[in-house]
Amino acid sequence: MSEILVFFTQTNILEFKLPELKTLAKLSSVPLTLNENSHDKKNPFLVLDLQSEDDAKRLMKRTVLMRSMYELWASAKTHDDLYSQLAKCPHHLKAQYVQRPDGTFRVKVDAFGKKLQDPDRQDRLDKILGILPFEGKVKLNNPDQSFHLLELYGQAGSKTPDKPLRVYFGRWLMDGQRDQIRHYHLQKRQYIGNTSMDSCLSLLMANQAMVTENALVCDPFVGTGSLLVAAAGCGAYVTGTDIDYNVLHGKGKSSRYNQIWKGPDENIRSNLRQYGLEHCYLDVMQADFSKCIWREQPLFDAIITDPPYGIRESTRKIGSDKNNLVNHEHLQNHVPSCTKYGLTDIFRDLLNFAAKFLKKGGKLVYWLPVYTPEYTVDNIPQHPCLELVANSEQPLSVHVSRRLITMRKHLDYEEARESELQATVSDDHYTESFRYRYFHSAGVPEQKAKADARDEQDPLDRERKVQS
Ligand SMILES: C[S@@+](CC[C@H](N)C(=O)[O-])C[C@H]1O[C@@H](n2cnc3c(N)ncnc32)[C@H](O)[C@@H]1O
Repeated sequence: MSEILVFFTQTNILEFKLPELKTLAKLSSVPLTLNENSHDKKNPFLVLDLQSEDDAKRLMKRTVLMRSMYELWASAKTHDDLYSQLAKCPHHLKAQYVQRPDGTFRVKVDAFGKKLQDPDRQDRLDKILGILPFEGKVKLNNPDQSFHLLELYGQAGSKTPDKPLRVYFGRWLMDGQRDQIRHYHLQKRQYIGNTSMDSCLSLLMANQAMVTENALVCDPFVGTGSLLVAAAGCGAYVTGTDIDYNVLHGKGKSSRYNQIWKGPDENIRSNLRQYGLEHCYLDVMQADFSKCIWREQPLFDAIITDPPYGIRESTRKIGSDKNNLVNHEHLQNHVPSCTKYGLTDIFRDLLNFAAKFLKKGGKLVYWLPVYTPEYTVDNIPQHPCLELVANSEQPLSVHVSRRLITMRKHLDYEEARESELQATVSDDHYTESFRYRYFHSAGVPEQKAKADARDEQDPLDRERKVQS
């Protein structure tokens, strides 16, 4: 057993780190025992007991939230305690890494939540080199071994204490896959839209869904295909649907600054081609999610999606409040009208869809918007065939956040009792317009927020008007 120190990236999605860690442990068959209750989710450090360095490296292969891992040599509340622990450093570690005249090394001192002055840094360095007299040559770039003193002073923004809350010393093992976030960054993406999912969250969703090579993954609200890119990056075959023809086919107005119309190469296929992933692209279809287009059977290994909330895009489905029948001769060129698709219905349809079309053991990963003052765990939609695996919050404003929900299909559709086969979605939370609450909680006066909520313009209509 070795003690491993994990350093997580510091973002507003710190709540996602343990779910990702647990998922990756399952995916790479690394035994992991976590006492989640004793862990402060704001603390970017976590100590794990792992069986081997190899296990640690396997955990890091796909992570986007773990920045680095270290073999922990000492951890204490004060520097003096840390130095006395280092003085008692086990003989085998000294023999392997300190008494190595033929190797190269470096020692780095880093503080989190405080800027260290150079003299303080030098003082710590001198103390460590006094206790651990490394015999190799110093090499700052790419040494054989890198040792780190890491000091935690607390969260950025909170008052910085004089003394650190905790200090750690360890040998660097491996960095996570933060370079994948840069590789897939939206700034360099061929085709993006107003609601394209950023690369870190897309990769995180693919991890949560345990997407693996040759899996079949679907995004039923595919938009510009950001989630398909992340899933294809994990080796999956990808497909999706969207109601909006212009979004699917890269037509109409561009979301890019300084560009009016979308260019010829702005579409989902080009996005996959850009990363050498076109062979994973099955295709996408224009379809209204409220009307099922798939043959009913368990098809997908994972469904990852970001349904519309009605804030930056409208929640619409095909339908009409009028009872007009379209004449047969007009059917060919008929553009069906749209009616409102309430959030309660969207999430009910999504869970019912996952219950039918996921293979047993497959994952549904999706974003659920919530109004935080009223949120309780009972607001999470449920289905008898799906069990909740993870539920983490990303705050969007003081009163509104979205939660990344991971569910696993644990029961075949036929196994569930027919009376229970419908998803249940907490009506109270979603019947009153989420859009109204969003605007009102953002400081928009009540009357105007109500008007804004009513004036939900269909982007399809808007786009059509622009083109005509
Ligand atoms: C939040 S966006 C998805 C963005 C996408 N993840 C991306 O990275 O571009 C939601 C998408 O759902 C689509 N949508 C809205 N109503 C729909 C419906 N009834 N059926 C299918 N798609 C719908 C919208 O056109 C929009 O592209």
